[in-house]
Amino acid sequence: MSEPTGATRRRGPFQVGDQVQLTDPKGRHYTFTLQAGNQFHTHKGAFPHDELIGAPEGTVVRTTGNVPYLALRPLLPDYVLSMPRGAAVIYPKDAGQILAMADIFAGARVVEAGVGSGALSTYLLRAVGDTGLLASYERRQDFADIAKANVERYFGSPHPAWKLTVGDLQDNLVETEVDRMILDMLAPWECLDVASKALVPGGLLCCYVATTTQLSRTVEALREHGTFTEPASWETMVRTWHVEGLAVRPDHRMIGHTGFLLTSRRLADGVEPPLRRRRPAKGSYGEDYESGPGAAEKSLAERAAERAAAAAHTAAKEAE
Ligand SMILES: C[S@@+](CC[C@H](N)C(=O)[O-])C[C@H]1O[C@@H](n2cnc3c(N)ncnc32)[C@H](O)[C@@H]1O
Repeated sequence: MSEPTGATRRRGPFQVGDQVQLTDPKGRHYTFTLQAGNQFHTHKGAFPHDELIGAPEGTVVRTTGNVPYLALRPLLPDYVLSMPRGAAVIYPKDAGQILAMADIFAGARVVEAGVGSGALSTYLLRAVGDTGLLASYERRQDFADIAKANVERYFGSPHPAWKLTVGDLQDNLVETEVDRMILDMLAPWECLDVASKALVPGGLLCCYVATTTQLSRTVEALREHGTFTEPASWETMVRTWHVEGLAVRPDHRMIGHTGFLLTSRRLADGVEPPLRRRRPAKGSYGEDYESGPGAAEKSLAERAAERAAAAAHTAAKEAE
């Protein structure tokens, strides 16, 4: 049986064309592509690539200045943080959440927009595998070009499950029977109609947004749309630790914010979304919601208030 795309580049002795990540004595990383006859230059001397070709991962090479460098293949989280970028990439902690919480499975039909630098595309392609489909949409040709180069460098060839389209998702989406859709863009609420049409009943929509105003607008638009379940919203924070002798404590610095995630499932056609049982907190859809900065348009606020009143009525009835 042939290996899944890219797998032969992830194990075994170093080969020509592999990505190599060097770590210097201060823990700094340097990434390059292994080429026969080339030299890797540092400010403390050089060494020939040929020394690594055929050597096992985890080898230490020494420069002409006798400085040791540890050579390993970059893991995907290392790769996406060091690859050339057009737009900001989804951080590994969020990519991991997306793979798990958006339930990306081998063989799935997945749609993604935008593609940006192709970081999330690479994770998604590994998860859907050669027999799945990842249809990615990116409005900017220059970003699509960067993403294509990054994805193909990672796998060592084009990926058979990847279809990359340049254009806005909402104007170009052609896939149907989609299992999962992932939106990482400024205005995901503009794509709910096409998402609803493309997703299978039970299919999952996952949005990654950077700000609370985007989160709020997306959640309210999903509720308003009427073809999705009540969205779940969350963020994650990863705190790394310093572990040395008796000094065991969180590191002083951390990445405090990347973005928010939300997921919602596509209902079967013609099904009314069940009313929420919990009464919204008093004032959730009050005057501030209607007139505050960044608030959704009035009609949306009014309809949200109506839904809140209906939910309160249901809750009161049930309490009787
Ligand atoms: C933050 S970047 C995506 C980063 C990407 N997920 C990654 O991990 O590398 C957002 C991208 O969405 C694209 N975009 C925004 N709205 C879009 C739309 N409606 N359809 C397609 N692409 C869109 C932008 O051009 C931008 O490249």
